[in-house]
Amino acid sequence: MAREFSSLKQMDTPVKVLFTGYLSTVAVGYLVALIQILFTHGMADGKFGLSIDDIVYSYYGNRSGSLLETKLNGSMKENASDKERFAIIQWVRDGADQDDFADAGVDKIIQERCVMCHNKDAPVPDLSDFKVLKELASEDQGATFSSLTRVSHIHLFGISFIFMFVGLIFTFSETSTTKYKCIAIGMPYAFLLVDILSWWLTKLNPMFAWLVIIAGGGMAVSFAFMWTVSVAEMWAYDKVFLDAEGQHRPKWSTIVEARFKQIGGEALAKKSFELLKQAGVYGWSQFQSRGLPLLKELYLKIIKKDK
Ligand code: HEC
Repeated sequence: MAREFSSLKQMDTPVKVLFTGYLSTVAVGYLVALIQILFTHGMADGKFGLSIDDIVYSYYGNRSGSLLETKLNGSMKENASDKERFAIIQWVRDGADQDDFADAGVDKIIQERCVMCHNKDAPVPDLSDFKVLKELASEDQGATFSSLTRVSHIHLFGISFIFMFVGLIFTFSETSTTKYKCIAIGMPYAFLLVDILSWWLTKLNPMFAWLVIIAGGGMAVSFAFMWTVSVAEMWAYDKVFLDAEGQHRPKWSTIVEARFKQIGGEALAKKSFELLKQAGVYGWSQFQSRGLPLLKELYLKIIKKDK
């Protein structure tokens, strides 16, 4: 194929410096983001390091208990005696009723043991306010819908911009076949959408937590791949892509492609695509024959109610 644009290797040094400066800065940003994830989501289950539990607690919440109980058994354990903690937890499990608040002696315990730190002037929740206490005593529901909406649109706009430029730089590379270049450039966008979708799904059902990991991992892999190839082509083309005689090493993607064919991957991919298409056609016909009438019925019901 004749190339109509100059490849990364042939670009002027100032352009290479510009591209490399951008790529390096974005890579540092990526690292900082990973560290932040480790310290916020990573600590959600009380243990350091990212696990499936962390993701479930962050998005779905810890539905088996309240934050109040979790903290009384965790970082707040030292602030009250076992008997006092037990009284609070018992009150929480009995429904955290306002009527029982004084009867069970919980108001006194909170006043004596907690309010010196948890008051209205403190950066931690004000436990002298019953509403705040009640909130902490209710089921831990994880991320709220409003916070998910906010983070979702920030991520979609921000990350698609990053991959716009990383992808654009990578389009000038010449050491991958067109097909694999397209996959590498398109993959992060697909994974970005799956990533955002997986947060919402995990909010509804913890079973989708693994999807969050797969999508995040997929994005990171395509980022690392485009980054490495682009930088290597700009600054170390001869060393990385030519052998000792100055001959081109075989393109990595032709090796992958041949291996893929060998293990029957190509046929499998074709088959899955075919299945996907059939499922889509079936889904559409079901929507038309059943879903649409159902929606119409629902709509009419709502209209009737309004009248
Ligand atoms: C010495 C000061 C101090 C005392 C006393 C104290 N806390 Fe805390 N509490 C903190 C700090 C600091 C945090 C934030 C760090 C953390 O979550 O571990 C916190 C966090 C919490 C949280 C989590 C709030 C959130 O939104 O994440 C709860 C619940 C809590 N405390 C309950 C209690 C209860 C109940 C008592 C009384 C038995 C109590 N605390 C006594 C300092 C204190």
